[in-house]
Amino acid sequence: MGEHEAGGPLWAGRLEGGLHPDVLALTQSLDIDRRLLPYDVAASKAHVRMLGRQGIISTDDAAAIVQALALVAIDEGATDEDVHSLIERQLVAQLGDVGRRVHAGRSRNDQVVTAFRLWCRAHAFALIQATADLQAILVERAQTDGAAVLPAFTHLQRAQPVPLAHHLAAHVWSLQRDIGRFQAAQHAADVSPLGAGALAGSSLPLDPVGVAAELGMASAFTNSLDAVSDRDFAVDLLYACALCLVHCSRMGEELILWTSQEFGWAALADDVATGSSMMPQKKNPDVAELARGRAGTAIGRLTGLLATLKGLPLTYNRDLQEDKQCVFEQVDATLGVLRLLSLAYQGLSFEVATMRAAAADGTTVATDVAEGLVREGMPFRDAHSEVANRIAAGERFDSPTPEEAIAARKGPGMPGVVSEQLVALEALIATTRALNAPSL
Ligand code: ARG
Repeated sequence: MGEHEAGGPLWAGRLEGGLHPDVLALTQSLDIDRRLLPYDVAASKAHVRMLGRQGIISTDDAAAIVQALALVAIDEGATDEDVHSLIERQLVAQLGDVGRRVHAGRSRNDQVVTAFRLWCRAHAFALIQATADLQAILVERAQTDGAAVLPAFTHLQRAQPVPLAHHLAAHVWSLQRDIGRFQAAQHAADVSPLGAGALAGSSLPLDPVGVAAELGMASAFTNSLDAVSDRDFAVDLLYACALCLVHCSRMGEELILWTSQEFGWAALADDVATGSSMMPQKKNPDVAELARGRAGTAIGRLTGLLATLKGLPLTYNRDLQEDKQCVFEQVDATLGVLRLLSLAYQGLSFEVATMRAAAADGTTVATDVAEGLVREGMPFRDAHSEVANRIAAGERFDSPTPEEAIAARKGPGMPGVVSEQLVALEALIATTRALNAPSL
């Protein structure tokens, strides 16, 4: 009976005695990579079927291993070094010597990155759909409440009036770019490294292209050394999440401002607001603050993995084991915040009268008054200083009204024609929803 059957590590052949418990504790990754199990099982099935097709193992053995793979599950109290070791241990426990044939022509180096790529591909797609969910809620609110008028800001100072629909749509466009980045990350992950082995392939007649096809992956690796050391796809996903969370953070910050007593432009629904353990009157926007806070941590995870990668010699190095926790946490945080913001916007009530009063303070249309003078023939610089002087002297303008000022801005992308934007956004959301999920 080999070490592995007794519960020892996969690589026990060369080294004598057991591992120091502290070394095992430091090197083990099962607590984290257990999430790869269904992806590693799928990749293992594809690998084993290929071994059967290529005559590397018998088709009976291949069929038996594929069947046994379907029964593999994380067992209570498992102490394996990683999920790959757990799978092989359970195959051997189920099938004895037949189970010991599974690893022909493969290494954990190509195995781990294959499972991880499949995980990233599936979760990039989940992120795309969660982002579209938030977009759909923002567009819905723009349709139901979007005629409300508010002063948009520069420098957080009242600038010009816009309809609420135009303001909400601005966030939807930033999320649309996030969807593009998630799609790019999904595509980047969609390459199968299986067959690269430890780093330089195998002398067995493997069929990496067939394995990639069976996994529904867009292609197989083109360089075995690159295949086991490349983690660009993980960085792409971390970056796409970080920037999406930066956008969510800005929305969170806006909810914090708008729901403050100082603004009074909106109120969170009670089921997304939080209270204070001491101050009975408090209704706090903790969800929005967490959206803002999680973006900071997300930027850290992106820089963390880039720093891990920067000095690594080709090819696989154990440092690469650090790639998974940050990506798992990043994706969890992003999915969580997208969901949280969807809930927050869904139940948000807008204080339309307070918003409009801010937009109708007699100053936000100052540019429109100056442009009226330009239409009468005055040079803009003179019109600007005339209106500035009148405001400084205390004059306030009631013409045009904020609504008239909005209606006069009619070019593409302008606030006066926001309903066209909403139609365009609805079409984009429908396109996103119609995307095909990856096969696994
Ligand atoms: N747990 C390892 C990881 O996540 C699997 C690969 C280990 N390979 C090795 N040669 N030690 O990267």
